[in-house]
Amino acid sequence: MTAERTHPTLRIGHSPALRGVCSVPGDKSISHRALLFGALCRGTVEISGLGLGGDNASTAGVLRALGVAIAVDGTSAWVAGCGFAGLREAASVLDCGNSGTTMRLFCGLLAGRPFASTLGGDPSLSRRPMGRVAKPLRLMGATLEGQPDPARPDGILPPLVVRGGELHGVDYALPVASAQLKSALVLAGLQAKGKTILEEPDLSRDHTERMLGFLGAPLRAEPEHRRIVVDPEGWSGELRPVPVEVPGDLSSAAFLLVAAATVPGSDVTVERVGLNPTRTGVLDVLRLMGANIEVTETSQAMGEPLGRVRVRHVGPLRATRIAGALALRSIDEIPALAVLCASAEGCSEFADLAELRVKESDRIACIARELRRAGVEVAEARDGFTVTGHGGRPLQGGRAEPDRDHRIAMAAAVLGLLSEEETQVPSEDIATSFPTFADILRGLGANVANQE
Ligand code: S3P
Repeated sequence: MTAERTHPTLRIGHSPALRGVCSVPGDKSISHRALLFGALCRGTVEISGLGLGGDNASTAGVLRALGVAIAVDGTSAWVAGCGFAGLREAASVLDCGNSGTTMRLFCGLLAGRPFASTLGGDPSLSRRPMGRVAKPLRLMGATLEGQPDPARPDGILPPLVVRGGELHGVDYALPVASAQLKSALVLAGLQAKGKTILEEPDLSRDHTERMLGFLGAPLRAEPEHRRIVVDPEGWSGELRPVPVEVPGDLSSAAFLLVAAATVPGSDVTVERVGLNPTRTGVLDVLRLMGANIEVTETSQAMGEPLGRVRVRHVGPLRATRIAGALALRSIDEIPALAVLCASAEGCSEFADLAELRVKESDRIACIARELRRAGVEVAEARDGFTVTGHGGRPLQGGRAEPDRDHRIAMAAAVLGLLSEEETQVPSEDIATSFPTFADILRGLGANVANQE
């Protein structure tokens, strides 16, 4: 997976109207699962529309280190599935890079394999809490150790050592709605003796349930009860190799849609983008705020709806409140939505977002810092923040400090489109999820230059 090289700084000027039709790279969450679950099939799985970012490359790299052959050509990939039993002990540390999804999903998978593995990552991933996966996996019989977590006495931090072995099913109420945690426990449950029943406080993204269901895994999703039952009793242990088509990433498209809603005169359409209802909070927020938005579902791919989203600028939008289930359904889009609210009329409130403190950066602190740099008033709370919108008046440029977080860097770039003076955005980490971000913005008419 050759992520296109991005240059270290983007120089962004006040934007003319953005216009055009575009598509975005494959969904990051679904691409991780296509690679990983593909490896668990018996036979070759062909993936089309694979995400091009560094996080997906990390998952492919970890699988290769475990003995799985993967060929990649642009956005197509072929995974030589070898089943659970075909995975082999790696010769060195499994490098998860910046990807929390890679680390947490592999914890669940490797907890049931009869060998030891060490999982490590970059400085940002090395600060992210892993006690949430360690605790239930230990309850299932796994041995999992990490470094002490100074912020959480019962937690651990990477690098992690997972000594896999025999697991038994559990009945477990997840303390946080997290698809990474849920998916790790599903992967462990598939290898365990007996039933595993998982219940979430709220329904997190359900790509794992949808894709594993398609591949013939013995699991039953009960989204209305936020429950999953994994019952491997009598199962052959084999997943069916079927071709996987990955929709475009709505989390990447969100930055383009917010740009279209805030830059006067814009009219932008993103095609073939994922519309899974556990991910479409951003579209609901755009509607709630009065945006001109058209969403057309055009097809389904392995149980995942996809389609076209068009946003036309209509003037300053109205402030809103993003909390509860809506906040969870837009968890990765909060940096983009904060920019949307910065240009709206009135004070918007973001709440129930404590998880943002432990993403690739402390996103609440980073969003607040970037908005303030652009001249926007922000009040920070423990689990959220408020933003006083500028009502469409221009913001201030300057040098962004995205703290090596891809989504903060892209949010800063969209702020730059709305700013009178130039904005400089350190950009190398944008390739984590959206390596073609600057090219696509330029194609829509934005004034974006690369600087070495
Ligand atoms: C993801 C789940 C979410 C999300 C992340 C991707 C996934 O994290 O924020 O970007 O692919 O499962 P949590 O599981 O920590 O909520």
